[in-house]
Amino acid sequence: MAPRLSPGDATGFKLLFLLAALYGLMSVLVYSVLHMKFITPLAVEAPPDRFSEARAVEHVRALTRTGRQEGRPGLREAANYIRTELEAIRGRSGSGYRIEIEETAVNGSFNMMFLGHSISLGYRNHTNLIMRMSSVDSPSDDASVLINGHFDSPLGSVGAGDCGSCVASMLEVARVIVDSGWIPPRPIIFLFNGAEELFMLAAHGFMTTHEWRHSIGASINVEASGTGGPGRISYQLLSQLAV
Ligand SMILES: *[C@@H]1O[C@H](CO)[C@@H](O)[C@H](O)[C@H]1NC(C)=O
Ligand SMILES: *[C@@H]1O[C@H](CO)[C@@H](O)[C@H](O)[C@H]1NC(C)=O
Repeated sequence: MAPRLSPGDATGFKLLFLLAALYGLMSVLVYSVLHMKFITPLAVEAPPDRFSEARAVEHVRALTRTGRQEGRPGLREAANYIRTELEAIRGRSGSGYRIEIEETAVNGSFNMMFLGHSISLGYRNHTNLIMRMSSVDSPSDDASVLINGHFDSPLGSVGAGDCGSCVASMLEVARVIVDSGWIPPRPIIFLFNGAEELFMLAAHGFMTTHEWRHSIGASINVEASGTGGPGRISYQLLSQLAV
């Protein structure tokens, strides 16, 4: 004979069942928001004032013909590519913008803890490409937003996700700003740093030596995306932060 449940037990089981069902529903909801609700990608011929994923992917293609590790020719080619793109953006910018582009070679040294060991690193001649975009009326010490991404790639990879995708989104965001005629209320510094895979050496060089480092009020670091989970930089987020 099956044991009979007391009315109290039955209520308890119903409550547990309800909680499990609620948990299941919430998981489905969260999963669908995080992993299934992507905006529709825009094609290459999308209006110039819109972020086009297809245009960004063109940059990824151009950057991933060969590896971009420190010491390989691909890194230099990538730096030249970024520079050419930045100069084209500057070339199209209206008279309301002040756009400065710099290529710097940084040297430096620092100590850090790595996996429980203290290590010292010294480095020479790592490349950064930097574009500062502001209104012509903005003072040179105006607080700025830094958008940082690296253009070198990990060992053994052409680095489409890590971090061709970063360079591609940053170039497309920079292009959208200029082509839409939106003049950022605060300067935006785009930093394309080299040698990130070697303990972020070039970024260290920027933060310790570049004159613009003192003006940074907020920063967005763009890292590998497209290879695992959502990782997006949105134009909207950028405009909110820049206000
Ligand atoms: C960095 O080092 C290189 C050679 O190692 C030197 O030519 C260059 O002037 C140095 N740059 C700075 C900013 O110290
Ligand atoms: C620094 O790197 C550039 C390539 O980015 C190279 O042409 C130049 O010879 C290097 N300079 C030194 C001092 O190593």
